[in-house]
Formats: sequence, C-alpha cells, structure tokens
Amino acid sequence: MARPFEYIDGALHVENVPLASLAERFGTPLYVYSRGALETAYRAYAKACEGRRASIHVAVKANSNLAVLNVFARAGAGFDIVSGGELARALKAGASADRIVFSGVGKTAGEMRVALEAGVKCFNVESIPELDRLNAVAAELGKRAPVSLRVNPDVDPKTHPYISTGLKSNKFGVAFEEARETYRAAARMSHLAIVGIDCHIGSQITEISPYLDALDKVLGLVEQIEADGVTIHHVDVGGGLGIRYDDETPPEIGELVKAVLDRIAERGHGHREVLFEPGRSLVGNAGVLLTRVEYLKPGSVKHFAIVDAAMNDLARPAMYEAYHAIDAVKPRDGAATTYDVVGPVCESGDWLGRDRALALEPGDLLAIRSAGAYGFTMSSNYNTRARAAEVIVDGKTVHVARERETLEQLLANERILPA
Ligand code: LLP
Repeated sequence: MARPFEYIDGALHVENVPLASLAERFGTPLYVYSRGALETAYRAYAKACEGRRASIHVAVKANSNLAVLNVFARAGAGFDIVSGGELARALKAGASADRIVFSGVGKTAGEMRVALEAGVKCFNVESIPELDRLNAVAAELGKRAPVSLRVNPDVDPKTHPYISTGLKSNKFGVAFEEARETYRAAARMSHLAIVGIDCHIGSQITEISPYLDALDKVLGLVEQIEADGVTIHHVDVGGGLGIRYDDETPPEIGELVKAVLDRIAERGHGHREVLFEPGRSLVGNAGVLLTRVEYLKPGSVKHFAIVDAAMNDLARPAMYEAYHAIDAVKPRDGAATTYDVVGPVCESGDWLGRDRALALEPGDLLAIRSAGAYGFTMSSNYNTRARAAEVIVDGKTVHVARERETLEQLLANERILPA
C-alpha cells in the first residue's frame, strides 16, 4: 500500500481514492479511515510480539466503530473496554470474550454481571470498594472473577495534564504504597481469582523511559506480591504510545514493544504473559476528518475559515488545545492567508486549527489529519448537530462504516410533555 494519505496529481487521496470523491458521495463532515493503515499499525505490534508471550488489546475508546474493531478482530486482536457499551461493541465486532480486558474506574454492578457472564479475560480493578462489589457480583452468579489490580506507579509520562493518568494526583489506580496490601485483601475474597497486574500511565507518550520507570516499579511490586503467596500470571503495561500530530518524534511501535519485553525478560519475569492496550497508535494516523469551507471571514486581527466540521465532531482542539495538521484536499496556487479554522458552533472554543497558512476559497475541502483516534468517539450532538458519517477505504473500495446520523434519529428519544 502507498502511504495512506498522499497527494496524487495535486489531489489528496486515501489509498487509491480521491478524498474529493468521498466528499461528493457522502457529504461532509466525514471521517475517512484507511484499512491499510489500521492493519499496518496492528501488524507492527503483532510482529514485535511474535515469539513472546504477549498480546494486544485494542483500546476501544480510541475508535469504537464496529468496522474498525472488526478489522482488528480479524487480525487476531484482543480488546480493552471501559463500559458495558464497549463490551457490546467488541463482541458484535467479532472479539472473543476471553481476549477482552475490562478497565475503568467506575464499573457498575450491572456491567460486571454482563462481563462475567460473557467470560472476559480479566477485570482491571482500581479500588477496594470495587473489589468488594466484584466479589459480591461473582458470588451471586456462582463464579470467580479474574482480577488484575491497576496500580498507580506515580511516574510522570510527560504528556498533557488531562491525559496523564499515572500520577498520585490522578483518580486512577490503587496507590503504589497500598498495592501490596490491596492484593492481600483481594486474595482473601472467595469469588475473585487474581490473575495479573496492570498499569497505564497516560496517553500521547513520546518517550520510552516513563514506560520503563513504571515497569521497574511494577515488577518490584510483583516480586513482593508473589512473596506473599499470590501468583501474578500477566503484566498489563497499558497503552499510551504517542503519534506524530506535528513534529513529535515518538518511538516506533516495534521499538517500544521490544524495550518493554526486553526489560521484563532482563528482570527475570520473561515467563509472564505481557498485555499491551494501545489505542491512539493504532488508529490516530489512520484517519482524517474531511470538512468543507463554508465562509471566509476576514477580520482586522484574525482571518477565519469557517468550516462545516466543529468541536462536536472533533473535540480535541477545544478540549486539550490539541494540534491537528490541516491540509487542503486540492491545494491552490497563489498566496496563502493565515486563518483560524473554526466551526459553526456557538463557542469561542470551537476551533480546529489556529494560525494556519492556507490558500482557500469557499467550497474548498480540508483534511484535518490524525483524527482517527478520539475523534468520532468523543463527538457529540451539541448545537443539535447530527454526527458525521464514517467510511473505510481499502485500496479502491469504499465501505460505509457508519451512516450519517439523521435529525430524526437525533430527536427519536425525546418526548414533549402531555397537553
Ligand atoms: N488503557 C487504558 C486503561 C486507558 O485509559 C487508555 C486511554 C488506553 C489504554 C489507550 O491509550 P492510548 O494508547 O490511546 O493512548 N481523549 C484523549 C485521550 C484519553 C486517553 C484515555 N485512556 C485524547 O484525545 O488525547
């Protein structure tokens, strides 16, 4: 496959399909994914895991479209879920339950019940009250729930504060100092079976060292827990590997996986199964958000390009001031103007890119890059905007992975008060 998003004869393509033709057929805003790019990223993980006891559990939250999940399920992936909804999606996409790990800080009893009945591989538990609840739910069902504790190793992932999760100040995980005692407590619960240990330190991590720092702490803890007579079968190192949005230089997938697996082996833990929970690094650069320029609005301080996508379609810029590259689908000759690319939503925070040099006319198409992860999944109906459609391109073939939402669907669950 050629690079997934490339200019051919002056027009941006996804694989072998011009993006402009997709805008014509399906309208905008439109999420466009490259099947080849999804598979290439997955293969990089799979290859680096070859010959090792290691498995890949795709973080569903990054991109939960059924067709996208199905591409990974076909490639042999497991999944990392955080809700009953994500469990339903993963199963519908063809995942086998025994390759699903259930993460998240607030699992309800109902979600635990459904996941236990489905037979998930493991619950990544984050507190003693959650252990108590899971134990009770498992007792009710006459089962033993497989459990791994998510420990908080208190390392700095050196990423945006909103997406770092392994610091003491974060809500996630069992505090490192309390982890050994929490394992002892879990071991006393009759309807739990301890199977592993888990950590996840953050997202969009662009260095290997925070992973290794966390791993060293976790492996030290594993030694203590086993000294207490509890066997730890697997070590789940979480997700978090960053991608290039702008000029970041994250490690290659294979490089990170190798560094982690090597460290585990060097420390004498090579017999344990290792789990990875990648999201962004699998899907982020496999997708763009295609949008059309509605108006150009010159100003005395700033010029605005008002497009038909908005913060409800792609929340990351508004939420994290995240940078997404924005390119014209058919770049024009001529002088560029510096624009803020903004949406129609009634919020000053509704911007998609700031100070972008582009030569534009109304009606032009723009591709907002690196939108495959936490793009559609974080979209909303704010301003009563129907959610975008999603398509997957495979060579020359275009598959509609999600129809554009209609206003009828959007309003379907609402009821006016009786007369
Ligand atoms: N495992 C756990 C337990 C997680 O909480 C996450 C992400 C992942 C795996 C996958 O992480 P990844 O490989 O995608 O970094 N909405 C934010 C990102 C939030 C990440 C939440 N947890 C964003 O748009 O940047």
